Amino acid sequence: MANAWFETVAEAQRRARRRLPKGVYGALVAGSEKGLTVDDNLRAFDELGFAPHTAGLSNKREMVTRVMGQDVSMPVLISPTGVQAVHPDGEVAVARAAAARGVAMGLSSFASKPVEEVVAANPQTFFQMYWVGTRDEMLARMDRAKRAGAVGMIATLDWSFAYGRDWGSPFIPSKIDFEAARKYAPQVLVRPRWLLDFARTGRIPDLTVPNMVATPGETPPTFFGAYGMWMQSPMPSWEDVAWLRSQWDGPFMLKGVMRVDDARRAVDAGVTAISVSNHGGNNLDGTPASIRALPAVAEAVGEQVEVLLDGGIRRGSDVAKALALGARAVMIGRAYLWGLAANGQAGVENVLDLLRDGLGSALTGLARESTADLSRDDVVVPPGFERRLGVDEPDAPVETVRPRTRKAARPA
Ligand SMILES: Cc1cc2nc3c(=O)[nH]c(=O)nc-3n(C[C@H](O)[C@H](O)[C@H](O)COP(=O)(O)O)c2cc1C
Repeated sequence: MANAWFETVAEAQRRARRRLPKGVYGALVAGSEKGLTVDDNLRAFDELGFAPHTAGLSNKREMVTRVMGQDVSMPVLISPTGVQAVHPDGEVAVARAAAARGVAMGLSSFASKPVEEVVAANPQTFFQMYWVGTRDEMLARMDRAKRAGAVGMIATLDWSFAYGRDWGSPFIPSKIDFEAARKYAPQVLVRPRWLLDFARTGRIPDLTVPNMVATPGETPPTFFGAYGMWMQSPMPSWEDVAWLRSQWDGPFMLKGVMRVDDARRAVDAGVTAISVSNHGGNNLDGTPASIRALPAVAEAVGEQVEVLLDGGIRRGSDVAKALALGARAVMIGRAYLWGLAANGQAGVENVLDLLRDGLGSALTGLARESTADLSRDDVVVPPGFERRLGVDEPDAPVETVRPRTRKAARPA
C-alpha cells in the first residue's frame, strides 16, 4: 500500500479529491457565486513575502500559547465545520487528532457527531452556534454544550444564505433514500474506498445534526431541516450578540468579523475573542481576503480582545504571516478536512504536524525564537495589500486605545 503520509496540504487535497464522491468533495471546496473571496483568501497569502536573516538564527521554536482560556501547543485551532459524510468518525476523529497534538477544537452546531462524544475525545472543545430558532432554543443548545463540558462558545453570524456557484453546487441529499442513492450512485461507484470506510462501520453517512436538539439522544433534525429553521430565524442585532454573550459563562468568540467598526461593537458586547474571517469565502462573494482586513482590526482592538484569523491557511508559513500581521492565533478549515478525507485521524494529525513544521521553519528563517516575537518587520507587505474596512479614513492609521506591542497583547 502506498505511504499514507503526505508532505503538503495540497497533496492531502489531491488525495481527498480522488477518494471522495464528487458531491462530497464539492461541498468541501464550497465557495459562493463566482468564487472571488475563496480565491482571494489564498492569493492574498501568496502576495505576502518574508524578510529572512542569514546568520544569527535560532534553534528554538517556541509556539505554546493561550487562546480563549486554553493552553495550546501552537497558535493553530480547528475551525468549526459541518463535516458531513467525509469520514465515518467525522468530528470525533478530528477531536482525537487535535487532542493528540495539543490543539483546541471548534465544533459546529451543524456537525454530524454529538458534542458529548467530541468533548470526550478533546476536552479543549469550543461549541459553535449560529443564530437559529428562539432564544429559549438557543439557550437549551448552549446548556447542553455546557453540561457536555465545552470550554468556550463561538458565535458565527456571517451568513447571508447566498446560493448558486458558477462551477455548480454539489447535490447533497437530506437523507439516504432511493432518490439520493440513484443520484449519488455513479459518483460513489467510482469512489469505492470512501464507501468501504462507511460500510465497515455498518452505518450510512449521517446527514442529521445531533447538536441542534436540547437533549442527547433526542431525534435530531436533518441538515436541511435545521437550515430551513435558520433561514426563518430573525437576523440578530448587536443587542442580541450582547445577550448571547451574557448567557455563556466562559470565553466567547464572535467569528466572522471583517470591519473595524464591527470589531469595536464586538468589544462592547463583551466578547473574549473575534475571528477575522469571511467564512472561508462561503458567504458574501466579493468580500476581501480576511488576511487583508486583519492588520486594521488587530491595531484597533488587539489590546482589548484576542484577535484570531481564519481563511486560506494551507501551510505553516501562512500561520507565520498571520501572526506577523497581528493575529494571536489562526483557525483552519479546509486544511484539516482534506487531511480527514485523505487519512482519517492520522491525516488530521499529519496536517497539524505540517503546519507546526512550516511555522517552525519560518521562525528559524526569520531568526525568531518564538511565535510571540513575530512582527510586521518579518513580512513584506506590498503596497495596496490591506483593506481597512469600517474605518472613516481608510488610509489613516487606526486609532488604538494604547500603543500596542505583540508581547503586551498576550495575557499572562
Ligand atoms: C465545508 C465547510 C463547512 C463549514 N461549516 C462551518 C460551520 O458549520 N460553522 C462555522 O462557523 N464555520 C463553518 N465553516 C467556515 C470555517 O469555520 C472557516 O471559517 C473556514 O473554513 C476557513 O477557511 P479555510 O477553509 O480556507 O481554512 C465551514 C467551512 C467549510 C469549508
